[in-house]
Amino acid sequence: MAERPVAQGPSSPGRPLWLLAELTYRCPLQCSYCSNPLDFAAQHNELSTDEWIDAMRQARAMGAVQLGFSGGEPLVRQDLETLVAEARKLGFYTNLITSALGLNETRIGALREAGLDHIQISLQAGDADVAAAVAGSPKAHAKKLAMARAVKAAGYPMVLNVVLHRHNIDDIDAIIALCDDLGADAVELANCQLYGWAHLNRTGLLPSREQLEAAEATTQRWREALSARGRDMRLLFVVPDYYAERPKACMGGWGAIFMTVAPDGTVLPCHSARILPMTFPSVREQSLETIWYESFAFNRFRGDAWMPAPCRDCDERHQDFGGCRCQAYLLTGDPTATDPVCALSPDHSLIEAAREEAAADQRSAHELTPRNTHESKVFCRA
Ligand code: SF4
Ligand code: FES
Repeated sequence: MAERPVAQGPSSPGRPLWLLAELTYRCPLQCSYCSNPLDFAAQHNELSTDEWIDAMRQARAMGAVQLGFSGGEPLVRQDLETLVAEARKLGFYTNLITSALGLNETRIGALREAGLDHIQISLQAGDADVAAAVAGSPKAHAKKLAMARAVKAAGYPMVLNVVLHRHNIDDIDAIIALCDDLGADAVELANCQLYGWAHLNRTGLLPSREQLEAAEATTQRWREALSARGRDMRLLFVVPDYYAERPKACMGGWGAIFMTVAPDGTVLPCHSARILPMTFPSVREQSLETIWYESFAFNRFRGDAWMPAPCRDCDERHQDFGGCRCQAYLLTGDPTATDPVCALSPDHSLIEAAREEAAADQRSAHELTPRNTHESKVFCRA
């Protein structure tokens, strides 16, 4: 689809509050639900340490206060501690979003000394076999548990993130028990968002409604039990879009508060946006300020002037902003469409069809397409 100018919404967007620094697409794991681009293997041109520091300075000068280091696996970057120290100096609140592969006690100490505020570790399952099938590594689960204990022992507030899907959601009781045992302060039980590799594997990942309802009920029982014994461990259960009646207010609105810098310096309104048929600017070529305020890409879906019916006339358009542009594109091929997750969307039947397709998909976790360089090269050629 060709790019075309579009009437804008609010003429003066606010400042970006969040910077997500995707330091690399390299990762030792192969999670079939990864949201990284399918063709990540084509990306070799990572920003240097100095380029990242410059991008962080620019974002902080614009008013950003939260900085997430993610990937791929950010620990693959040997300059992570340097970047954290610089971020701390600039006054960011910093969060490391990691699989814990590449972590050890020495690095935990170095990150603490550099001023890292927060570590979020992902777990694949409560059970080592399911974790191995999903992550493509038989040893990763034990390593994650050891590092979660080490992170807690180092005095960090710890969030554990568990991506839920049909192959692990029935084990939610064991998953929460494990997180409790590890001393987590908060647990994100995040039903899989279907972008990137997760979209490729979506019929093999989407749980049934019965699985979802049972998992929510178990989570609620855990909340009550934790509260009864005075244990402060927050449980956040994120419902999958495909079972919702309304879409999420993705990223708090396009170009509203959130900015991602991809490993090669491409600047995106969300981590998934490079799938869209648009050109996104690079911090190597333009300042973040120019990109945020003036670029076509960041202005494309700001405000509500771009919205088609039914969003255009809907009272809820300033709450959910018409839903997620990436999801609309993945499902309909049109990035301007109302997110089909919305029950009012003319394309809502696509969601119902996806649920039916998923019910017919009998693949095991071992049979899903792993996110690895070999598989990615297929999409580089496509
Ligand atoms: Fe949101 Fe559009 Fe659905 Fe209204 S019609 S609830 S604005 S997605
Ligand atoms: Fe890109 Fe929602 S993930 S707009």
